[in-house]
Amino acid sequence: MCGIVGYTGFKPAAPILLQGLARLEYRGYDSAGLALLRSGQPILTIKKAGKIHCLVSAVQEARISPVFTSGLGHTRWATHGLPVDKNAHPHSDCRNQLAVVHNGIIENYRALKRRLRSQGHVFKSDTDSEVLAHLLEQGLRRKGWVGAVRWALAQVQGTYSVVMGYGGEPEKLIGAKSGGGALVVGLGRGENFLASDIPALLSHTRRFFYLQDGELAVVSPSSTRVLRLSNGRSVTKRPLEVDWSVQQAEKEGYAHFMLKEILEQPRALKRTLAGRLDPKTGEVKLEGPFWSSAFLRRFRNITLLGMGTSAYAGMIGRDLLEKYLRVPAQLENASEFRYRKPPIGKDSLVIVLSQSGETVDTLVALREAKAQGATIIAICNAMGSSATREADGVLLTHAGPEIGVASTKAFTAQLGALWFLTLYLARLRRTIPPGLLLQKGRALGHVPRLMQKVLRQRHHVARLARKYAVFHNFLFLGRGIQYPIALEAALKLKEISYIHAEGYPAGEMKHGPIALIDRRMPVVAMALRSSTAHEKMLNNLMEVRARSGRLIALVEKGDREARRLAEDTLELPPVEEDLGPFVSILPLQLFAYEVARRKGCEIDQPRHLAKSVTVE
Ligand code: G6P
Repeated sequence: MCGIVGYTGFKPAAPILLQGLARLEYRGYDSAGLALLRSGQPILTIKKAGKIHCLVSAVQEARISPVFTSGLGHTRWATHGLPVDKNAHPHSDCRNQLAVVHNGIIENYRALKRRLRSQGHVFKSDTDSEVLAHLLEQGLRRKGWVGAVRWALAQVQGTYSVVMGYGGEPEKLIGAKSGGGALVVGLGRGENFLASDIPALLSHTRRFFYLQDGELAVVSPSSTRVLRLSNGRSVTKRPLEVDWSVQQAEKEGYAHFMLKEILEQPRALKRTLAGRLDPKTGEVKLEGPFWSSAFLRRFRNITLLGMGTSAYAGMIGRDLLEKYLRVPAQLENASEFRYRKPPIGKDSLVIVLSQSGETVDTLVALREAKAQGATIIAICNAMGSSATREADGVLLTHAGPEIGVASTKAFTAQLGALWFLTLYLARLRRTIPPGLLLQKGRALGHVPRLMQKVLRQRHHVARLARKYAVFHNFLFLGRGIQYPIALEAALKLKEISYIHAEGYPAGEMKHGPIALIDRRMPVVAMALRSSTAHEKMLNNLMEVRARSGRLIALVEKGDREARRLAEDTLELPPVEEDLGPFVSILPLQLFAYEVARRKGCEIDQPRHLAKSVTVE
């Protein structure tokens, strides 16, 4: 949730830290700070409530000398303590000899704080994180810098990913992790980096390794050393080289990352399918021993797990897998999975969906499923993330870094991966006749072009948004494979425009929601002709109109009947039913975006939300 950056090298640290923080702002944005270290100088700490630009102004005013070539920074998403200057990170000890930035929650902080206070330590913030600074101060009295870190962290219960700097050894930053979100070490020449996420460092390096839980990294300009926290033994790391570019982590002239990412979807989906699906022949392939294992021919049930948008993609995946493999499949919200004690085991395939691969509830569910003997496939966008490391098989979505908090391109890329996986498994298990399989593959290969067509409606969607942005409540209705789209479209609207919106199966409308319908409650209905339940959907449209509801319908081009019933329409090209979600979500993402823009909302960083939820 919070974002962390660390730098140690030969360049002035402040601009590097500020740039990294700006790139991480999507992770948390209620306050930010940095601490700069240099031998023989007191640690210089600047922190500010508000967004990164408040910190940038404060740093500019401070006219910092370029001699500080080591430092750490943080952007905060408050858990303990209000978002005010004093609670912003970095935190320091009583003597200002060290600086700490922390992501996660120290669960035993009250007991630790009581003890430290009774020993004379003076606290300056209301955060749980500050206890770590005082523990380190105590540790330093008896041990060296690395020893003090191991000693302090051994007393902490909860989750953390932390970066720490010590004035006595200013070039030696230490990072450590135990839950609390990802921490990557970026490798440079004569300089090295730490960060919560790869995009923060893309201007400097594409070589990284991830710290795993229970590991500590000692990072100096010329070396990186990784140790196990428990026993101090060295760990060897193999760096990975990412193919993400700096441009992908920048707005490139768009007003918002969200808009850039919406419009980028056809390209992102092409990348998801590249090398796996031949769009001309429709053939699918996956290489590596896992993908040809006997297990994939014999598993007997499937559970899909995810949170937020990833869970809605999973819902569509469930329908596809069940339909084409004829194997029971269920979608479970990952945070609820462990409470249900579902009967899964050695015959179970569990598909974990996560853009970041770091969502804590999804990881906990993954581990639970693994402990019960299931085989795990992770469908993930972030290479090297926890989910990809812990799964048995990995399908990277290759959508490129997604920066907007409201997920868009990661969603359609997940759908692409799920579709592709369904076809692959159907071929392996021979559950679809070969001819039909190829036909489906070709249809999937054609989807990026269809998406491109739909995105041309941007200006029409903007006009509708102008008309409807004044309403306070929306209802989204869908049937079958379009029901998850109703949920996802409602989520997009709530997330970024703070308008109350609900997604419902259209059949459920008469069981309650219909009571809400009046002139002030627009209803958005997915009424694509390809849907097997098209007639039923038309009946729902009539019921809405009969109650003076304001109706926006997503219809297939040329569907006069649906057009006649709706007050406004969004037209989509003809598309077969199962591929419908790829195109129907696009105008609704744009609609949410345009409504939020008209309302002047903070689109890329909606209030209270974080891109990656790393605390339970
Ligand atoms: C947060 C984000 C959502 C995302 C969800 C799951 O709520 O704001 O956009 O869908 O987490 O994230 P994941 O990285 O696991 O897909």
